[in-house]
Amino acid sequence: MSDVLLTEKLDGHIAKLTVNRPDKMNALNGEVRCAILGALDRLASDEGVRVVILTGAGDKAFIAGADIGEFKDARPVEQYRAMQRGDIYLAVERFPKPVIAMINGYCLGGGCELSMACDMRVAATTAKIGQPEINLGLIPGGGGSQRLPRLVGEGWAMRLIMSGEMITGDKAAAIGLVEAAVPPEELESHVMELAKNIGSRSPIALQAAKETILAARRMPLDEGLKFERGWFSLLFSTDDMAEGVGAFLEKRKAEFRGS
Ligand code: COA
Repeated sequence: MSDVLLTEKLDGHIAKLTVNRPDKMNALNGEVRCAILGALDRLASDEGVRVVILTGAGDKAFIAGADIGEFKDARPVEQYRAMQRGDIYLAVERFPKPVIAMINGYCLGGGCELSMACDMRVAATTAKIGQPEINLGLIPGGGGSQRLPRLVGEGWAMRLIMSGEMITGDKAAAIGLVEAAVPPEELESHVMELAKNIGSRSPIALQAAKETILAARRMPLDEGLKFERGWFSLLFSTDDMAEGVGAFLEKRKAEFRGS
């Protein structure tokens, strides 16, 4: 367990991860990356957890990017290896359960990239979101050049990455960078409601949903459809599917157990 990343288990099969460096706008340093990788590893095999919320401590920042202090004396090969070793973006994307980014403030650089590696994003209307690496003579290094155009299209990706401008949560919702923007005082309850909804579902079906949707990025349509058919048919072997269908026919609420 680590002070720079708080892990809470909440009712409804929910785990909440909070990056906890509020005095540094929750910037991602090596210790935070390592803690995120460790927490994801533990939560992946925790059968009590079906959905994860990722957020930042305090009321100012979600995550204001990579810790710029660590860039100063970094050499190219060390930098490359550190990025490979600490690839929190792929770890979140490949995590077998849904991850919701709760964007409560500055969501910049690696923070924006981490939110894009999550499966869903909800922002405060007042959040400030952007890819300011260009201000440092850099480009995004956590997948921004690849995930941003997939979410918002090439034009907005070019604009955000080349100008370094920050947009509000409201604007981010309008261009599809987040799925919802809500007033800051409603952010927590909105995300909790979403997480509770998802946490009440069959964890095997959730994993199938995540894997098949992500497969659409790398598979041609005919292969993706085949992959979906495989997962769909496999789910017929689960108790959860029998429970879901039985509950519908008996007009009662399904209780999914994850088997
Ligand atoms: N890396 C390291 N430290 C950071 C940081 C980052 N990405 N973002 C903020 N901090 C630190 C500041 O250095 C400052 O530390 P200090 O009090 O020890 O001096 C503290 O967090 C508060 O930030 P500050 O700049 O004083 O707050 P602000 O309200 O004036 O501005 C930001 C907030 C987020 C706009 C500004 O900090 C910023 O531009 N950060 C860098 C964002 C960035 O470029 N991210 C991409 C990195 S690749």
